[in-house]
Amino acid sequence: MKIAIGCDHVGYELKKRVIDHLTEKGHEVVDFGTNSTERTDYPIYGEKAANAVASGECDRGIVICGTGIGISISANKVKGIRCVVCSEPYSALLSRQHNDTNMLAFGSRVVGGDLALMIVDAWLSGEYEGGRHARRVQMISDIESKR
Ligand code: RB5
Repeated sequence: MKIAIGCDHVGYELKKRVIDHLTEKGHEVVDFGTNSTERTDYPIYGEKAANAVASGECDRGIVICGTGIGISISANKVKGIRCVVCSEPYSALLSRQHNDTNMLAFGSRVVGGDLALMIVDAWLSGEYEGGRHARRVQMISDIESKR
């Protein structure tokens, strides 16, 4: 898979570990920054990674800030993005199976590195089930279309 990744300064160290993990698993990673621990603003990187997913340049996206909250809210402002913020693998997996999430967020101040990688693996392993969930996911898109 081709995976967009982005973070703010708080997520930078964890992002490096996630990139190494994804690369080892054979994924192609497109890194949208930030590229240091110098203070910056999470909406910049949430939007960049989300644009790459929404445009089809990347298959999925993963974004990291201190809590995962600000950067996930930012990503979710891009049309077509369903970004889930997770601190455990169960929700990550179910978000794929039921909600067809195309982006994952977590917080470097919330989860440790090992848990973050478990969340990533659970999320990437999940297949969207469609069926009864498809109508609800379409309803989410319909809300977006009203704007
Ligand atoms: C930065 O201090 C922090 O606010 C940011 O990383 C994130 O947690 C926001 O949601």
